[in-house]
Amino acid sequence: MSLQEHLKDKLREEKLLLVPKRFEVIGDIAVLSLPPLLYDEKHLVAQALVSQNKNVKVVLLKKNKLSGENRTAEFEIVIGDRTSTIHKENDCLFNVDIARTYFSGKLYFERSRIADEVKDGENVLVLFCGVGPFLMPIAKKKNVNIIGLEKNPFACTLFRKNAGLNHIGADIILGDANSICNIFKTRFDRIIMPTPYGQDHFLSFARPLLKPGGTVHFYTFKKDFEISHFKRMVEELGWHIDFYRDCGDVAPRVSRYVFDLKN
Ligand SMILES: C[S@@+](CC[C@H](N)C(=O)[O-])C[C@H]1O[C@@H](n2cnc3c(N)ncnc32)[C@H](O)[C@@H]1O
Repeated sequence: MSLQEHLKDKLREEKLLLVPKRFEVIGDIAVLSLPPLLYDEKHLVAQALVSQNKNVKVVLLKKNKLSGENRTAEFEIVIGDRTSTIHKENDCLFNVDIARTYFSGKLYFERSRIADEVKDGENVLVLFCGVGPFLMPIAKKKNVNIIGLEKNPFACTLFRKNAGLNHIGADIILGDANSICNIFKTRFDRIIMPTPYGQDHFLSFARPLLKPGGTVHFYTFKKDFEISHFKRMVEELGWHIDFYRDCGDVAPRVSRYVFDLKN
């Protein structure tokens, strides 16, 4: 039964139509986005959500869009008393704190695809690695040298906790991706870049760090009509596009895309 159906005797028609059809669950936390007209009904909607989803113990109301370098938003706790949880994905466990570090489970299928593509013996760099959702499945499945880089100190703390939780020896550097050419003196077979919104310029920083024949997995946010221009641009910059796809929408008409690029 949908949330709307569950609430049909409790809300007037005009409010019922505003009840969201989708919400994200991270660990045992559900993240609700409501239009301001429904704020007075947040407890009713949250109760309905919990009664339909037995694994959900906490409901957070997302008050604004992701912003700032940490890519976090403001949340109001509607049910429960925390913003942290443990999320399971790709056979790994992740400590996350939704209010203090970026996390979304929506890319689990991409993270699994990349982990399958990595070959034993590779040198791998994960930029913008957050609490480790791209890195940990690779380190768990493959015999690789792998390192992450992340600017949010609290995400680095959770990353180290997650490495312990998953029995993984991988390391993370607390640093700024703007300085990667100074930070790393070796070259990598593969660089994974879950790049923050609107930060496409970071792609050019990857090239000097990539071995000949190496691969970059570059994530970017685009409207569908922008894709042909973006493809032309990366090809003019000398990249070969091995594969690309739409990984799902993030806003009306805006999707996250992945481009697998070779130099
Ligand atoms: C889109 S999130 C991706 C996080 C993680 N890889 C994931 O998929 O959940 C971007 C991450 O980049 C980090 N970040 C933003 N600007 C950065 C920079 N200049 N250098 C390093 N990390 C940065 C943010 O703190 C955030 O954790």
